[in-house]
Amino acid sequence: MKTHTRIALTCLALAAIAPALQAQNTAQTATVMIRADQSGPVINRNIYGHFAEHLGRCIYEGIWVGEDSPIPNTRGIRNDVTAALRDLDIPVLRWPGGCFADEYHWRDGIGPREKRPAMINTHWGGVVENNHFGTHEFMDLCEQIGAAPYVCGNVGSGSVQEMMEWVEYMTSGADSPMANLRRANGRDQPWKLPYFGVGNESWGCGGNMTPEFYADNYKRYNTFVKNYPGNRIYRIACGSNGGDFNWTEILMKNAGRRMDGLSLHYYTLPTDNWQKKGSATDFDEAAYIATLVNTLRMDGLITRHGAIMDKYDPGKKTGMIIDEWGIWTDPEPGSTPGFLYQQNSLRDAIIAALNFNIFHAHADRVAMTNIAQTINVLQAMILTDKEKMLLTPTYHVFNMYKAHQNATALPLALSTPDYECAGKKIPAVSATASRDKNGRLHISLVNTNPNAPATVRCDIAGLGTGPKRVSGRMLTAPAINSVNTFDAPHTVEPEIFSEATLSGETLTVPLPAKAIVTLTLE
Ligand code: AHR
Repeated sequence: MKTHTRIALTCLALAAIAPALQAQNTAQTATVMIRADQSGPVINRNIYGHFAEHLGRCIYEGIWVGEDSPIPNTRGIRNDVTAALRDLDIPVLRWPGGCFADEYHWRDGIGPREKRPAMINTHWGGVVENNHFGTHEFMDLCEQIGAAPYVCGNVGSGSVQEMMEWVEYMTSGADSPMANLRRANGRDQPWKLPYFGVGNESWGCGGNMTPEFYADNYKRYNTFVKNYPGNRIYRIACGSNGGDFNWTEILMKNAGRRMDGLSLHYYTLPTDNWQKKGSATDFDEAAYIATLVNTLRMDGLITRHGAIMDKYDPGKKTGMIIDEWGIWTDPEPGSTPGFLYQQNSLRDAIIAALNFNIFHAHADRVAMTNIAQTINVLQAMILTDKEKMLLTPTYHVFNMYKAHQNATALPLALSTPDYECAGKKIPAVSATASRDKNGRLHISLVNTNPNAPATVRCDIAGLGTGPKRVSGRMLTAPAINSVNTFDAPHTVEPEIFSEATLSGETLTVPLPAKAIVTLTLE
């Protein structure tokens, strides 16, 4: 529950015109009442999941360089990238798409690489896909980074038999045709496949289906997604495009009892216009706040889709799986348009943190999310340029927030001033708190206002004789559009934050402008 004061902090442009207003851009106070004496739902660590599609330079170059590459690699997968991803504790990785999933035929991606047939990746630049990265390589990647595989099957252009045999290929330990084919390709033991998606965006690139038609198809395909001994699959049905609530209604009504999870895709577009989304780096403060307004819509979407799910599933057994989210801007000037390569700024880091705070607040329903996408595509963690690699501001947020994985969300009430610019208004401060299994408290705070600091007073009910030592990290940068580049890869990086003070049950945090702070009390 949030309450806002009526004081609005203004944007710099306005303050420059009216110096009197500038006085308002001094520190304001926000208060957060954290109930450490109560417990909310567990923050499923899968909320910190990722998505890697055969799109642009995500798989090829970003992950897969091939065994003969001069870039250091393990069985063709680049070592610098896996080391960085391991450090994020990525719980789950979704693959091979996205739109690509519904034109992917898994048999093309197994066996000796030089014999694998090529195909055209019609969705993403019409490039020729050589299928050198297939099932074995994906499973190897998951093992190397310690993530659980989430495979998305082909409903749009694939057959039921094809899907059924893929699941057998991956998970059966029997002396059966597909399991033996897998063995012939060098993998004796079946893999664990905990998550399987039955189609992607079936309302669009996955087949342009109506919800009724997809619900029937979901049931048909899903019937043949078998649980072989030792492997239980969590089945994820294709869910809505943003605010298409009718899709959720029909899917829950017609197929709800046969799924474990229902997906939701929502991208943050700076301009809200798919034809001209807005630049990743060249934006002013008005575009900044407009983008944050758009990202905060995630909260209402989860609430409304969740309410429909509650109608059919009051026990909240079916997970909401937000398996594509993040900021989607115009591609980087000079890059191949269909490759969706975009830079990543402090704004994107703030977007990631705001979304995590929202996901935590809905942890009773949101069971998994997968940011789009891990490397070189959309809101990436990592950008590569041949042998070079850099970590984006978004990467650092995932790293700073990972302490919340599988922790228990703590109920909180926030009172914050607003941040206002160009006729738009959002809460200046966003907050989340959790307690991990070792009793440590983790508090994450965001100051969306790029012009004014905020003093955040956290009243932690029930802290009592609990944790007393505070440590923290902060991510900020010289400007809201600051980025890391291959020439200057450390411009936006977390730093130690030791300004928080604890007195009794009150934690006082001087939160700088445009900053994300994560604190641990132990
Ligand atoms: O992430 C890029 C694309 O966005 C995915 O392929 C598709 O599912 C969505 O429209």
